[in-house]
Amino acid sequence: MDPVELAKRRVGTALHGKWTLDRLIDSGGMACVFAATHRNGNRVAIKLLHPGVARNDDARNRFLNEGYAANRVGHPGAVKVLDDDVTADGAVFLVMELLTGETLADRIERAPIPAELALFIGDQVLDVLAAAHEKNIIHRDIKPANVFLTEEGTVKLLDFGFARVREGGETLTQTRDGIVIGTASFMAPEQAMARREQVGARTDLWAVGATLFTSLSGQTVHQGKTMVDRLLAAADKPARPLASVVPTIASEVADVVDRALQFKIEDRWPDARSMQNAVRNAYEDLTGMELPDPGRTSVLPVVPSVARPPSPPAAPAANLDDEIDIELSVAFELQPRGDTDKPATLEISEDDIDDASLISASMIQEVPTPED
Ligand SMILES: Nc1ncnc2c1ncn2[C@@H]1O[C@H](COP(=O)(O)OP(=O)(O)O)[C@@H](O)[C@H]1O
Ligand SMILES: [Mg+2]
Repeated sequence: MDPVELAKRRVGTALHGKWTLDRLIDSGGMACVFAATHRNGNRVAIKLLHPGVARNDDARNRFLNEGYAANRVGHPGAVKVLDDDVTADGAVFLVMELLTGETLADRIERAPIPAELALFIGDQVLDVLAAAHEKNIIHRDIKPANVFLTEEGTVKLLDFGFARVREGGETLTQTRDGIVIGTASFMAPEQAMARREQVGARTDLWAVGATLFTSLSGQTVHQGKTMVDRLLAAADKPARPLASVVPTIASEVADVVDRALQFKIEDRWPDARSMQNAVRNAYEDLTGMELPDPGRTSVLPVVPSVARPPSPPAAPAANLDDEIDIELSVAFELQPRGDTDKPATLEISEDDIDDASLISASMIQEVPTPED
């Protein structure tokens, strides 16, 4: 049965007789997320791997790793995973804290957001990433759909499903070279080229840059009709400067974003903390105020009046909707033809795309590398 149909039918049923599924929040390629209530009254979110995917051991392990990785970050801005278990029909699920609010993707689908808010969100996301990177966890799928803005005004980072965790020199999550994982429009060049050994903290920073770029402009960094077009552009082309899309953007803001989006890894911000400091400085330059301390529960700032006129909202690009609706976390194998240093020669067939979630479920193996 179609996984979405199956997910809908689960609403109203109880997992293990104790978690009643109240409402389907979202259904993606690999899993669906429900709001649920424990028999003790506790409200939670339950993320359930589609049964077809759950039959694959690698996919299951990877899914369970998501909870481990998120909790290991040890930061209140990483969504908390409370438990994992298996349904009577063999589907694995994670029990998470239930968040209320909306994703950044939902927010920017309505309209691009003001620079002050983008910087506030960037600061919070980078604070979580700094903690994650310190623990050798690379998220690898930072994008607006994985950034959640809670009703209380805090920012939570979701979906550590693609996270790579290194512990004691050993890689706990497994991805072979030549396999692309992540989301095309938010993917750094080295990730789009599936250069596993180059994917690291600054790959996540590129994705934060792309998330800010899209938040401020309503457009993705690379334009392209299809996901494959955008993936190939990510592997091959430098990012457009933010000001080329939002000419009225404050230069302090554009500088932070453009540096994160540099094609060469060494030209980007060196680490999450330094990018975070730059974000905080840009906020101060813009507003004359300091951002609240991201370590504490803070509240989305009531956007202060700014001296300079705010940027007029750019029209959202057609492919942004697409990206968000599909919320496609690409995971398929590239077939390099000839010289792998020339990404333009990579060929991907439409079949690969149809198989995206299938391959992601079966692909996952990796040889540990000595260092990041
Ligand atoms: N803990 C949660 N509370 C409320 N909603 C959530 C929670 N976790 C995820 N969601 C919603 O479900 C969507 C998909 O969750 P995510 O973990 O990103 O899974 P996927 O792997 O399908 O992208 C999110 O974009 C968000 O809207
Ligand atoms: Mg997601």
